[in-house]
Amino acid sequence: MRLLRTRAELHGFRTGRATDRPLVLVPTMGALHAGHLALVEQASREGEVVVSVFVNPTQFAPGEDYDAYPRDLDRDLQALAPLAPSAVFAPSRAEMYPREISVSVVPGPAADGLCGASRPGHFSGVLTVVLKLLNLVGPDVAVFGRKDAQQCLVIGEMVRDLDVPVRLIDHPTVREPDGLAMSSRNAYLSQEARTRAQALYRALATARRRLEDGERDTAVLVEAMRAELAPVDAIEYVEVRRVPDLAVPARTEGRLLLALAARVEPARLIDNLVLEVSDAGVRDASLFEQGDAAS
Ligand code: PAF
Repeated sequence: MRLLRTRAELHGFRTGRATDRPLVLVPTMGALHAGHLALVEQASREGEVVVSVFVNPTQFAPGEDYDAYPRDLDRDLQALAPLAPSAVFAPSRAEMYPREISVSVVPGPAADGLCGASRPGHFSGVLTVVLKLLNLVGPDVAVFGRKDAQQCLVIGEMVRDLDVPVRLIDHPTVREPDGLAMSSRNAYLSQEARTRAQALYRALATARRRLEDGERDTAVLVEAMRAELAPVDAIEYVEVRRVPDLAVPARTEGRLLLALAARVEPARLIDNLVLEVSDAGVRDASLFEQGDAAS
């Protein structure tokens, strides 16, 4: 596992590759947990892996947790070592943004609403750094976590519309035994808040059960999720959207995203389920499926 800190070192790695296996990028902001490691494991099955570790300043709005975001590269390298990715690209801020950025990516319609509503500029920052990473690393495949479903779909629109030559994979959300989605931000939670945070997955599981029982009224599903979210400090959104374009669905069928965001002080947590709903029943689905332009 090589640690690459500069563009020049990354370039040396790329040009010196001695394999024709596909190159697979797993972009992260570090603070790695079992969810990230599952992405790296999936990436290893696809080809030779590069993990990037970079806390991207341009996707945090003023007042968000950029400064507090956990950073511990030594710990991340230790966590990655057993999975033996070929390289870890961990550039400094100055290496990634050597000058004030004057061009950035404008997200498409999938950025409207959900997290896009409360985090103005966030998805432009994400797309800009992801495009830079894709350009610098030049992977054949990139693996993202399904937990950040809107992020995945916004990236999918960029890859499709800007003809970025990469195949995207969304890896299923990895959960704690009680259902809480793994997230670097769970580290902010006290024991008491951690218990209340279980409400997020309970809300999603309730909506799924109601769908399995035949409920097709999205207002009823949203109300059922909101009721389960009583223990959180504030609900930011609870929505049912269509995948992959994130439009509000006219009918409760096909691929659907059940998405929610809530504050469990001091953390802002998000979670979702991606489900295929049909006459045959309800099953888990992925965000990038064969036939989607980005898959
Ligand atoms: O999901 C993340 O960790 C980040 O948004 C990403 C994709 C690494 C871009 O900074």
